Amino acid sequence: MKNIGIIGTGYVGLVQGVIMAEFGMNVICMDVVSEKIEKLKKGILPIYEPGLKELLDKNVMSGRLKFFTEMHETIENSDVIFLAVGTPPKEDGSADLQYVKAVAKSIGEYMNSYKVIVNKSTVPVGTGKFVRDIVQEGLDKRGLSIEFDIVSNPEFLREGKAVRDCLTPDRVVIGAESEKAVEIMKKVYDVLYINQTPFLITSLETAEMIKYASNAFLAVKISFINEIALLADKVGANIQEIARGMGMDGRISSKFLHAGPGYGGSCFPKDTKAIADIAHTHGEQMLVIEAAIKANEKQKQKMSERIIYTVSQEVPIENAILTIWGLSFKPETDDMRDAPSIDIIRALVRAGARIRAYCPEGMKEAKWRLKDIEDYIEYCKNEYEAAEGADAIILMTEWHQFRGAYLDKVKAVMKNDYFFDLRNVFSKNIEVKEMFKYSGVGC
Ligand code: UDX
Repeated sequence: MKNIGIIGTGYVGLVQGVIMAEFGMNVICMDVVSEKIEKLKKGILPIYEPGLKELLDKNVMSGRLKFFTEMHETIENSDVIFLAVGTPPKEDGSADLQYVKAVAKSIGEYMNSYKVIVNKSTVPVGTGKFVRDIVQEGLDKRGLSIEFDIVSNPEFLREGKAVRDCLTPDRVVIGAESEKAVEIMKKVYDVLYINQTPFLITSLETAEMIKYASNAFLAVKISFINEIALLADKVGANIQEIARGMGMDGRISSKFLHAGPGYGGSCFPKDTKAIADIAHTHGEQMLVIEAAIKANEKQKQKMSERIIYTVSQEVPIENAILTIWGLSFKPETDDMRDAPSIDIIRALVRAGARIRAYCPEGMKEAKWRLKDIEDYIEYCKNEYEAAEGADAIILMTEWHQFRGAYLDKVKAVMKNDYFFDLRNVFSKNIEVKEMFKYSGVGC
């Protein structure tokens, strides 16, 4: 059995650590933020992710999962070290590799035996080799000659479904430079290998590109359907039926063809900008991806413009009260990173409207991300309180809770009856359409 060290307990690192322990490995999860580690030791998760708490408790209890703050202990006690630190975007869209660099430096300083160093963070092509050089430099300084291997093993988990995605992934991609490293990685993922999950063994660079290309492709798909939805609105067509008709073609597939207010989250906005930047540094231009980025910005803008224009027909927008249902970038997460709600709320407030908001999990983060306009936003305890005195409901994120809301109760407390369904949750619900002045996205 291999001892696994995971450096960085963000979304990817933490879920990976818990799942590796569930797969039967001895796992150390390490983070420099000691408060986070202390909480994790007590079973307190820093994120909301369905199913994670149960697995965390179980594996901490069994002794397979431990939490450390000491880098050297983690490195010395691990055979396989996963780098799962953040790679936030810099001003110019390129990925900031300072944390990856710092960890690689520490590995070079503390490494005491053969290690497989695995990159889980989404990093620009060439980072594997860059990590290799930094580790080697550290060993050279210490006058040591210790063998090590670098592996790129991108993560494809979705927030809100992270546990399921890690337990039953569509594929495992391993970019490696040696057969020895590939064999060790197969042992690490023994459970998946036995379960016949497809494994793809590639070079480091190819694995690094697979992650960016996958995320960029999905972002393009969403921007594409959002653009078609704008046209569907104009010509009187129905985007859900269009998407269904398109998706019946196996070459297209129906997945990721749901029109909405634009994509958000910690991956698509960051990774599309990063791949465009990587292309620039190599003298290329990603025309399709850059168009998807622009279309996503336009989509958010279109949503706010439509709301402002429509509500203004009845109430001056400066007097309008607009209710937001759902703030997180998608359901089943508290993550607000690049959530479309942020840009849309800002535009509505800029126009003069006041906001009443409710989200099952996203409000804590929304409060600090929207601190500068806090005077214009009232956070409410449920969807009904949020609707009180409102001119319009804006369904921003498709939490199940909203699907089951008693809409007659909602309507009874509203002042006007606009309903902007930015996720097309109620698009086929005749009752809702009769009850409210309803509009969806492309239907
Ligand atoms: C994504 C990738 O799916 C995952 O493989 C990768 O590892 C990380 O990035 P995540 O960001 O967690 O995962 O969420 P995802 O479910 O992919 O949704 C991303 C955004 O696209 C959300 O804002 C979502 O609402 C939006 N989306 C998704 C659409 O607007 N329409 C769709 O059809 C699908």
